[in-house]
Amino acid sequence: MSSNSLATLANKRILLGITGGIAAYKCAELTRLLSKAGADVRVVMTKAATEFITPLTMQALSGNRVHHELLDADAEAGMGHIELARWPDLILVAPASADFLARMANGHATDLLSTLLLASKAPVALAPAMNQGMWLNAATQDNLSTLARRGCKIFGPAAGAQACGDIGPGRMLEPQELAEACAGMFTPGLLSGLRIMITAGPTREAIDPVRYISNHSSGKMGYALATEAADAGALVTLISGPVNLPAPARVNVIQVITALDMLEACIAGIEQTDVFIGVAAVADYRPAQIVSHKIKKTAETLQLNLVRNPDIIGTLAARFPRPLMVGFAAETNDVQAYGQEKLIRKNLDMLFANEATSTFGSDSVSATALWLQTGSAKNNVHDSNATQSSATLSKTLGPAGKNLVARQMLSLIHDRWLASR
Ligand code: C5P
Repeated sequence: MSSNSLATLANKRILLGITGGIAAYKCAELTRLLSKAGADVRVVMTKAATEFITPLTMQALSGNRVHHELLDADAEAGMGHIELARWPDLILVAPASADFLARMANGHATDLLSTLLLASKAPVALAPAMNQGMWLNAATQDNLSTLARRGCKIFGPAAGAQACGDIGPGRMLEPQELAEACAGMFTPGLLSGLRIMITAGPTREAIDPVRYISNHSSGKMGYALATEAADAGALVTLISGPVNLPAPARVNVIQVITALDMLEACIAGIEQTDVFIGVAAVADYRPAQIVSHKIKKTAETLQLNLVRNPDIIGTLAARFPRPLMVGFAAETNDVQAYGQEKLIRKNLDMLFANEATSTFGSDSVSATALWLQTGSAKNNVHDSNATQSSATLSKTLGPAGKNLVARQMLSLIHDRWLASR
């Protein structure tokens, strides 16, 4: 989980506007801190800013192309300036020079950054940085008052030794202070900063270049969980088999085909995961050999030799240390009993069992949450509706839309996460 003071930055879209000032070098560290906390950072630089720190540095640290020209056909083809104005949850201008504050206070749109600020409805924070004389000048103070009155947050400046040799107010706040000030602008979600990995959809196991074995699975439940978890502030990695669903916003989607691919993708990220939720309908078997050419249908019968696929959730649950492990079980009969057996056999912390055929492709779902009584009183009284049977606690969810049930599931998972710590 990311450090607490920055937890609300997970998934947030921050547009960092850099103007010309020596403090621009601090933006490298600021961007690193914001990105590490899970924010998606896009950098816009004024021409003067590029004299202090290179766009290439900012591109490498933000992982996104840096924008600096208003009339750049290439950049407009990627993310146009109006799209960019609609994109952020927060615009932070750091350092904000005296000249830029003056232009902003007067509503200029002479370069990309000032144009974006005019066009955007996103909250704006300013981190002024300038010589103490410029800061104390009545013109700068009037501009600041105007911008504060219009709703801009002003972070700093601090007082101290300045690059020009003066001592006084005008130093830009330090990167950590700025990152914390940004985090303070967002309300914490239930899952703020929690790192969640979800598998979803079916896997596909090739027989030959045109045929495969698979399971019924639309991926809707896993995608609903990913969407709702990201909305609640979690950092979500969704490892998805082939489905016909759009990638949820603010979710890191990794596309896979086979069970072996899915296992590999899970193992690659498992050490950076707090909670693992296995929703995928993994094919239990795969053809022992993939025939390299299309098998001709000449014979009356065809024998396929199948081998067991690894149990992904079981493999991950056997690791130590491990994340909180949450499984799913789609059964056609004796749902609760099979679910309970699977919870214990696979050594999971929680399992959602549901009736298989009514769930497939449907937008609505009902499920029984099952988890083991851990013996601590705290764990047992958190939900007065929970019923107990043979050391397993259960709670019925739905029938309701998959997104609503996903939110209820995440709330129960969050309880387990708190109890496990
Ligand atoms: O298919 P089964 O009923 O055993 O699935 C129960 C749980 O195990 C689900 O969470 C599913 O995603 C997971 N699973 C897995 N790897 C498998 C089979 C199932 O992770 N090979």
